Amino acid sequence: MYDRRKRMLQEKPLPKHSLPHSQIKNIQVIVNRLALLAFLPKNAVIAEIGVAQGDFTAQVLNTCQPKKYFLIDTWSTQRYSEEMKESVKKRFNSQIQQGQVIIREGNSVLMAQDFPDCFFDWIYLDTDHSYCTTKKELEIYRHKIKKGGIIAGHDFIQGNWLKGKRYGVIEAVSEFCIQHNWEMIYLTMDYNEFPSFGIRAIE
Ligand SMILES: C[S@@+](CC[C@H](N)C(=O)[O-])C[C@H]1O[C@@H](n2cnc3c(N)ncnc32)[C@H](O)[C@@H]1O
Repeated sequence: MYDRRKRMLQEKPLPKHSLPHSQIKNIQVIVNRLALLAFLPKNAVIAEIGVAQGDFTAQVLNTCQPKKYFLIDTWSTQRYSEEMKESVKKRFNSQIQQGQVIIREGNSVLMAQDFPDCFFDWIYLDTDHSYCTTKKELEIYRHKIKKGGIIAGHDFIQGNWLKGKRYGVIEAVSEFCIQHNWEMIYLTMDYNEFPSFGIRAIE
């Protein structure tokens, strides 16, 4: 535990940007991320980026009935493995057969190039929660979102204190919103999950 704390203290500080009132004035605070799904467009073209075993995927399918749902993940680690990918394929086999669910195996940032601009109604980011990855994902996927579309994501929190792991989602999202004039429209208050966020471009 001491080593983890030492490591965290040695890490490079992340950029800190407070969002001004104009970029949070339309925010809705929502009880949890399951309830957030009720606020997101239905029958839409969407992506979940970072899928793991598909637990959130099942909730999205039930609540949002997406027209096309792309599941993007590397499934390349011991924890999130090739076998996990196979179990996701089995779990959503009928939706895959119907063409509703499409699995794309690969790195979040690289996979973005496979999609045309203005393609998604909304996406949900949930990969490694680091500042660098989140910033790259936001920068590349903003072009892939339709006008008025939403980028949502998980882990809008400083870090995981049980694992001694710092996240960078708050910093990346806030910086991105300021640089590109996006606003925070959703924030969840989960007590047994880390919070989720939702942002969209200011017209
Ligand atoms: C926390 S899990 C996702 C959980 C899932 N969204 C849920 O709520 O049930 C993170 C997933 O992101 C994947 N991942 C991590 N970094 C990635 C990256 N750069 N590109 C694609 N997938 C990544 C991991 O393989 C893992 O399956």
